Amino acid sequence: MRKTLGLEVDITGLPESPKPPDADPIKDLLTPRVLREPATIRARLRERGDAWWSPTLDSWVTAGLAETTAVLRDADRFCSDWRRLGEDTPDSSLSVQALDAPEHTAVRQVLVGAFRAQDWAGIEKRTVASVNERLAKLARRSSFDFVGDFAAPLALEAVTNLLGVDPPDLDRFGPVSAAIVDAMDDGLRPETAEPGTAARAELAELTGSWLTDAANHRGRDGMVDYLAAHHDGVSRTVLRNSLRVILHSGYESSSRLLGNALVACLDAPGALARLRGGVTDAALRELVRFAGPVQAEARGCVEDTEVGGQPIRRGEVVTVLVGVANRDPRVFAYPDTLDLDRQHNPHIGFGRGPHACLGSLPALLLTRTVFTALVREHPGMEPVGEPIFRRNATLRGVEHLELRLR
Ligand code: HEM
Repeated sequence: MRKTLGLEVDITGLPESPKPPDADPIKDLLTPRVLREPATIRARLRERGDAWWSPTLDSWVTAGLAETTAVLRDADRFCSDWRRLGEDTPDSSLSVQALDAPEHTAVRQVLVGAFRAQDWAGIEKRTVASVNERLAKLARRSSFDFVGDFAAPLALEAVTNLLGVDPPDLDRFGPVSAAIVDAMDDGLRPETAEPGTAARAELAELTGSWLTDAANHRGRDGMVDYLAAHHDGVSRTVLRNSLRVILHSGYESSSRLLGNALVACLDAPGALARLRGGVTDAALRELVRFAGPVQAEARGCVEDTEVGGQPIRRGEVVTVLVGVANRDPRVFAYPDTLDLDRQHNPHIGFGRGPHACLGSLPALLLTRTVFTALVREHPGMEPVGEPIFRRNATLRGVEHLELRLR
């Protein structure tokens, strides 16, 4: 089994590539210091060059914005569908994220149609009401966990609202979802791979049951109902698994952005005061650049080529470090500084190319709504103690942040 960092990869049986072992900075990605402040390892990752070999991951690694963007954009030479390299992909993994054209194009088109068909004004209204109500309730407590008591239940409510289904019980759903995120780190923690595959299958069962219900009882608003009626030749398996990706991304990525972004603003003097002047598009872009959860993606090379001056051979893996690329000093002035008025901001926090994020609209809607309410209704908020970050290098997130609103 070849080790990776990134979303949903199973690449057994590809050729080994003998490379000289050396002190690989990738090994330190899970240290508490780096999880708390990724800037501490950036120089070591960047000094290796635009593309370099990681013996830990058995993979090429890109850290520069140009190289990372080029790999994400080039679906001809770099695959998300590992069957293009002769790999078997388990059924439960065949989703929008793990397919390439033409299958990817077909399912992505159907999903885009489902997103577009939603009542976004209504979604925004309900989101504002829910955020204000939740914060007003929590403000009555002396303090609370911003992630467990607010961001996680809110993100689950937001994505199931969009899907048009009842939210699953968070106590049951949370650990299953976390097992999938842990497995994204199987390059560093191989023991997470199998539980991750089982968890994906379990969530696919859930989204499959939603599709069945929608087919039997039509008339509920939301993406599931739309997709039950409009799936234009996309197989039920791919549809069910792609709904799993939406559920999972919508919950994990959105809640992690909220936690990371609040910690970043609490760390940066004047940031919350600046947001009181308005949570602008530029401020949101900067929060995704600086505090976005997605740190890495993986692709397989299907055709010998060159990246960052390195020869990449067919069958080799390229791990693109999205988080490091978003702080490339050749592109971003003062890259490790949160600048909520940054104008030139070509970040890739939502990905690039054919697999770029489909959910950036709901993610930004939720983030804007939360920060607007926090800085306007609760200007006196303060952290109680240090935040605790999750032990995950691929999808960075806060485990616990105790907060006082009054
Ligand atoms: C802050 C929150 C979010 C961030 C930072 C984020 C980031 C990303 C990134 C980087 C990718 C590209 C993955 C790749 O290249 O393989 C991606 C893909 C995707 N995201 Fe998001 N995402 C977020 C929220 C959401 C939400 C709320 C949804 C759904 C409601 C969503 C749905 C998706 C889907 C379906 C894909 C796969 C697209 C494809 O492979 O064609 N994401 N996301």
